[in-house]
Amino acid sequence: MSEVILVVDDDTANLMLAKKILGGDFRIAAANSGEAACRYLESNRPDLVLVDINMPDMDGFELVAKMKANPQWKSISVIFLTADKNEETEIRCFQAGAVDFVGKPFLPEILTSRVKRTLELERYRNSLEKMVEEQAQQLTGAFRRISEMQEHVIVGMANLIESRDGSTGKHVKNTQTYVRMIAQELERRGLFSEVLTGDYIEKLCKAAPLHDVGKIQVPDSILQKPGRLTAEEYEIMKSHTTCSSAILDEIIGDVEEEDYIRLAKDVAMHHHERWDGKGYPMGLKGEEIPLGARIMALADVFDALYEERCYKPPMRPIEKIYEILAEGRGTQFDPVITDVFLSLNEPLWEYLEHRN
Ligand SMILES: [Fe+2]
Repeated sequence: MSEVILVVDDDTANLMLAKKILGGDFRIAAANSGEAACRYLESNRPDLVLVDINMPDMDGFELVAKMKANPQWKSISVIFLTADKNEETEIRCFQAGAVDFVGKPFLPEILTSRVKRTLELERYRNSLEKMVEEQAQQLTGAFRRISEMQEHVIVGMANLIESRDGSTGKHVKNTQTYVRMIAQELERRGLFSEVLTGDYIEKLCKAAPLHDVGKIQVPDSILQKPGRLTAEEYEIMKSHTTCSSAILDEIIGDVEEEDYIRLAKDVAMHHHERWDGKGYPMGLKGEEIPLGARIMALADVFDALYEERCYKPPMRPIEKIYEILAEGRGTQFDPVITDVFLSLNEPLWEYLEHRN
């Protein structure tokens, strides 16, 4: 199907002439005023617009300014038609955004070749834009696939490590979910807003599964011991925090964004710190403990109590766990985060009911 050219001229003789010259190669739509052209453009998209400059009411420059201000119309190519072929008009035409201009009266060969050249450029531009868009889509898709693959590898690795301590294999997913719930609720209430941005929450959720990777260096005999750990065994157990941080440096230190690595290491290193400073490995106190680690502490302890382990049954009813967490408010846990966790209610219960 041939291309459509809209010719805008208040002089009917000129419209007829343009139609005669171009009608053999193109479909011609005619408008005898700027207003009529706008009405046409409301429901049609020509491939090119030829605009007379001197028209009553809305002149050619005004029409083109309107077209350039309209997101739907601004990419349509425009050629001005003018009887005053002087430099000043020529400059104004290009400044207005026209790709070319043709002097009147038209010489058929000149009008045809200018129109054909403009449409050819238009075709190149369109195919180039399409190509760039397709390639951008391919790149976005590839980037998304790599990110997803990386996420699966991280979660898979964390699951493997977690499965050694006799958990049911859900700890990674559960804690990640609780971390997201807590962080989103904190954000909704405008708490810790200087740190807790949408980007921070995404990175924190991606970092959460890595919090215990250092357990890979803790022997099974300690991880799976049903009874109390000896002082020496407890020291080894505690070292999983510093080991996690070191492992993260080693495996993702060179490939991930700096912000994310810092957050992942903070969570891994400090999720067993206590608000009162009696935790490990560094005995940090209160807000010295990084926010992500304070959130993870709640998620981690809740899951440890709620789920079954090979050495202990799940704790029920849930109120019993709530009591333990409430007792830890301001001693073991950040009081604000504890309050938020204890008020999650519906979304938490919903998850607990349907998780698998
Ligand atoms: Fe841990």
